[in-house]
Amino acid sequence: MIPHNQIFAAPMAGISDLPFRTIIRNFAPGLMCVTEMISCHSLVGRHKNCLRNFENYGAEGNVGAQIFGAVPDLMADAAKILADAGATWIDINMGCPVPKVATRTNAGAFLMRDHALAGRIINAVVRAVNIPVSIKTRLGWDGDSMDWADLIHIAADNGASWATLHGRTRAAGYAGAAVHPKIENMPIPIVANGDLNTRADVDSVLDLGYAGAMIGRAMLGRPWIFGEILGTAHAPDNIGHVALRHLNLMVEYYGAQTAVPMFRKHLAWYSSGLPNSAEFRIKINKITDVNAIRNEILQFWGCA
Ligand SMILES: Cc1cc2nc3c(=O)[nH]c(=O)nc-3n(C[C@H](O)[C@H](O)[C@H](O)COP(=O)(O)O)c2cc1C
Repeated sequence: MIPHNQIFAAPMAGISDLPFRTIIRNFAPGLMCVTEMISCHSLVGRHKNCLRNFENYGAEGNVGAQIFGAVPDLMADAAKILADAGATWIDINMGCPVPKVATRTNAGAFLMRDHALAGRIINAVVRAVNIPVSIKTRLGWDGDSMDWADLIHIAADNGASWATLHGRTRAAGYAGAAVHPKIENMPIPIVANGDLNTRADVDSVLDLGYAGAMIGRAMLGRPWIFGEILGTAHAPDNIGHVALRHLNLMVEYYGAQTAVPMFRKHLAWYSSGLPNSAEFRIKINKITDVNAIRNEILQFWGCA
């Protein structure tokens, strides 16, 4: 179970990897962070491209490993691998709208259309592991089928410990403002997600009956947001130092050749809104050498 007022860092594919979670934890030690979504097929098949997602959980602490898939047995096997790797809990993706997941493999958001299959998956995963299992879902498939409450009852009946509710439908994707329905008489705690950017936003969903809040895009280029919300840290005096630390962690984890192109988006977020950030982005997009990127960071932020 989760205590009241629990804050989470959202799962974000291509973003919430170990280096980013480590940076977040610098500002909010012990925060509950969810991994990038992991395909149960790739994980059970031990495909090289997904192995990065389940290393070092033991040392990390409070990490929710998020899996997606449509085959209960495979989802159970994937959950077992991740629990053995030290995950704190397993999160099942029931909200991803991208066609590769939701329409081609009947996973992610598709499970909002097939509650019986969703129930079987949750049941299989819950029985496979000794750690809590949560689901992350949306309001419904589209505006005509906002049946999130039914899915949450099914999740509870099958042993899920809590659910995260992204306040949009699958059809809405990421467009339009998130809507957070009032939570009443739910069998398990519900965590609000969608457009929560400040402590005041978090307080407003707690007032609606949510047990906690999950922050996604507001953490991009601002990993200290969790420290601000929890009162454990404030924005750094020099963002360049955070960017350098983040880059170093990525180089250590992926190697320089892979880390440099992956890090460009983070640099764009870190520099967003600052004077001359457009020129900075153009410059770093052409650089492939990690030391040259470091020098640009030192210059842009005037790091000592
Ligand atoms: C680039 C990107 C990647 C995402 N990857 C995942 C993912 O792997 N698993 C998941 O459940 N949701 C994923 N999401 C959805 C977020 O976790 C979150 O539900 C959504 O961004 C709304 O919250 P926010 O307004 O705080 O960003 C992703 C969203 C974005 C923009």
